[in-house]
Amino acid sequence: MCLKALIFDLDGVLTDTAKYHYLAWKKLADELGYYFDEDINELLKGVSRINSFEIILEKNNATNKFTDLEKETLANKKNEYYKEMIEQLTPNDILEGIVPFINEARSNGVKCAVASISKNASRVLELLKISDMFDYIADAALVKNPKPDPEIFLTCAEQLGFKPSECVGIEDAQAGIESIHAAGMLSVGINVTVTSIMPDIVLKSTSELDFKQISEKF
Ligand code: BG6
Ligand code: MG
Repeated sequence: MCLKALIFDLDGVLTDTAKYHYLAWKKLADELGYYFDEDINELLKGVSRINSFEIILEKNNATNKFTDLEKETLANKKNEYYKEMIEQLTPNDILEGIVPFINEARSNGVKCAVASISKNASRVLELLKISDMFDYIADAALVKNPKPDPEIFLTCAEQLGFKPSECVGIEDAQAGIESIHAAGMLSVGINVTVTSIMPDIVLKSTSELDFKQISEKF
């Protein structure tokens, strides 16, 4: 078996947007008079926008406080704050080691894709000026089942024309690692707080990404 594709998560793997997600949720939580801190923010990594808001409500014993429509409106409000904040992103915000790693993979004929459940993924990639490095970028709006479901990783493999067993998924969140494993792919975990499944390759940061090490795992 030979490595054919690398499928990257975006937030926390290609760039660190967690701080902007944090600031945007914090602004909304402050307005609503809810408690929100970095520890709660950790639980939101890899979690969809609406499910993130539900976790914040749960932590504030406010699960039944809003209707579904109200929840959607408030989560969209957070997204407006977030969208404004990410406009500050530049290519300097690409995490260390990512560009040489992708360049090496591509020069070895390996395809690259992005499997992010963020509806802001295209804009973030555009601001980082790396959209052209990917052969396929999943559209989060079309994903029916968010991570830990394997759907988004399987869609990337299918769109690239490869079997899941020919692909490697790279993630920073536990939900993402579960998604990669459920898809039947080899997983690389970047600074993942492990709560259930252990990634196949455990790294502390993106600067440790090593194309040879990963291809030799095949
Ligand atoms: C994930 C982030 O990549 O995208 C989550 O890790 C975020 O924190 C999710 O909630 C959805 O993103 P967005 O941009 O569509 O609200
Ligand atoms: Mg992530």
